Amino acid sequence: MEVVIAPADELARLAADAVESLLRRKPDAVLGVATGSSPLKVYDELARRHTQSGLSFARATAFMLDEYVGLPADHPERYRNVIETEIASRVDFAPGAVQGPDGLAEDLAAACAAYEQAIADAGGVDLQLLGIGTDGHIGFNEPGSSLASRTRIKTLTEQTRADNARFFGGDVTQVPQHCLTQGLGTIMSARHLVMLATGRSKAEAVHQAVEGPVSAMWPGTIMQHHPHVTVLVDNAAASRL
Ligand code: GLP
Repeated sequence: MEVVIAPADELARLAADAVESLLRRKPDAVLGVATGSSPLKVYDELARRHTQSGLSFARATAFMLDEYVGLPADHPERYRNVIETEIASRVDFAPGAVQGPDGLAEDLAAACAAYEQAIADAGGVDLQLLGIGTDGHIGFNEPGSSLASRTRIKTLTEQTRADNARFFGGDVTQVPQHCLTQGLGTIMSARHLVMLATGRSKAEAVHQAVEGPVSAMWPGTIMQHHPHVTVLVDNAAASRL
């Protein structure tokens, strides 16, 4: 595990460098994209490089980590729409190249299985961008998640719903109770994990993920078993290392 401590803008450049060098080496790479505030500067940087230096995503595909269950198709916080707004529409992905779990499927379990199959059919994820929750979740794998889990339905913790209420006008009752998320086993199948975390609220989760005993109670700790992880943190998020 490589840990880099730097200011947030520098972290975003480093994450974008990893994506760019992958795409230059392998234009048809499979990217893993995350929502939340942590990767936003990375997406800004990738969009800038697309516009200014011709970085192309035209042959790439991307898979989202997770999705809320039941948010209407046009809801701005539906992760599919967030990813569209924050990155997909700002670069040159081919139509349909960005996929996510279908939180509006009638048969959610079947949608999860189909999503796993789609990732496998694409050859697996080359580079997975990740944030981490204050409770140590990655994707939406909350504490207690099986370390070998695959894409499935999960119930969000009160902590995560409270953390994410800021995206729903501060009203926690508007935050869905359930989600679909790639499992920890799915995430671990990606060939390179790039995790970003900033701010003091992430310090404990980062400490556990990097230095704590591997435990389902801190899902991010599973990354210690991955052969290629880059942890990008600012001073505040690194304050317990
Ligand atoms: C969210 C997402 C995660 C994200 C995490 C941290 O709920 N499901 O993929 O990494 O929680 O979010 P943020 O980056 O906004 O702190």
